[in-house]
Amino acid sequence: MSLKLNVVPFVSVDSMMKLVNAIGIERFLVELAACIEADFRRWENFDKTPRVASHSAEGVIELMPTSDGEVYGFKYVNGHPKNTRDGRQTVTAFGVLADVSTGYPVLLTEMTILTALRTAAMSAVAGKYLAPKGARTMAVIGNGAQSEFQALAFKALLGVDRLRLYDIDRAASLRCARNLAGYGFDVTICSTVEDAVQGAEIVTTVTADKQNATILTDNLVGAGVFINGVGGDCPGKTELHRDILLRSGIFVEYTPQTRIEGEIQQLAPDHPVTELWEVIAGRKEGRTTEAQITLFDSVGFAIEDFSALRYVRSQLQTVPHYEELDLLADPDEPRDLFGMLLRAQAAQAA
Ligand SMILES: NC(=O)c1ccc[n+]([C@@H]2O[C@H](COP(=O)([O-])OP(=O)(O)OC[C@H]3O[C@@H](n4cnc5c(N)ncnc54)[C@H](O)[C@@H]3O)[C@@H](O)[C@H]2O)c1
Repeated sequence: MSLKLNVVPFVSVDSMMKLVNAIGIERFLVELAACIEADFRRWENFDKTPRVASHSAEGVIELMPTSDGEVYGFKYVNGHPKNTRDGRQTVTAFGVLADVSTGYPVLLTEMTILTALRTAAMSAVAGKYLAPKGARTMAVIGNGAQSEFQALAFKALLGVDRLRLYDIDRAASLRCARNLAGYGFDVTICSTVEDAVQGAEIVTTVTADKQNATILTDNLVGAGVFINGVGGDCPGKTELHRDILLRSGIFVEYTPQTRIEGEIQQLAPDHPVTELWEVIAGRKEGRTTEAQITLFDSVGFAIEDFSALRYVRSQLQTVPHYEELDLLADPDEPRDLFGMLLRAQAAQAA
């Protein structure tokens, strides 16, 4: 990619779909997961801050920045559970990558699809360290926008090939099953959560609600299960009964953010948790016994988006699905910004 100084590669939704399809979604998920793991291994290189959230009655708008000292990235993302009622997504996002040495953006991209991919890749990375060995069956509670991506990431990274789907809206489960036909899953649509968790070694909860909900009760979680808790990701928005947390080994992304947003907001502020990067870097243990209940209390952290942004940027070299965006003012003489405007005015008037 060699671009003029003022031109920023822009990956639209259309380009992102072309990029994912050109690479193949399972390969994309595996390679993105490898980027996340590599960045988690060098966790200490990154600036870290809990995301900046602006809450309202209907949802949340968040900014998620980080930098490794060479490249800076941020994501704008919203979460509005009632949006789907009038045809909008619950979660939409876009993001930017910039060169730290000049401050110039080097990528602007849609991140609604990319967030679903990175969330799923992150969950499957957690599953690599926390799920029981050889797990093949996953219950997916909540069959909305994120669900197929979750299923495919667990298939691509862990070999999960049996899905047990449950959603309060059966149409959502039917759509999820239909979308996944042809990907080699044995899919069962369940009519209760109790039914869905039967025989599942992995339970993914990915529901959307703007309140504390009890998607999983304590009696539904047997020994040895890995819970991938994705939907509880805001203050006052959780999915798991507190008693489950008290029985689980809890793994988080960035503790200061997860204390505010994750399932662990239900626990004392000093309840022990392990940051996943420490497990990936070999400093702490993941699953310790076959009987242990492990929980990935996923909320989504800026470094995962950074990994996703840099993965997409690297792929544009060989799969050039992007447009050149005239985003940055570039006067011939850098300090003559006003002169550039005057010349444009004259050209418009002519
Ligand atoms: N942790 C992360 O990194 C991360 C990333 C993206 C999204 N999320 C969260 O994941 C959740 C799901 O996102 P989405 O884009 O798939 O939303 P979505 O609105 O497309 O789908 C949510 C599904 O949950 C179902 N549901 C709601 N309450 C339920 C219940 N009690 N039992 C079973 N099903 C129920 C709905 O019917 C819907 O089909 C949201 O809360 C979102 O904020 C988390």
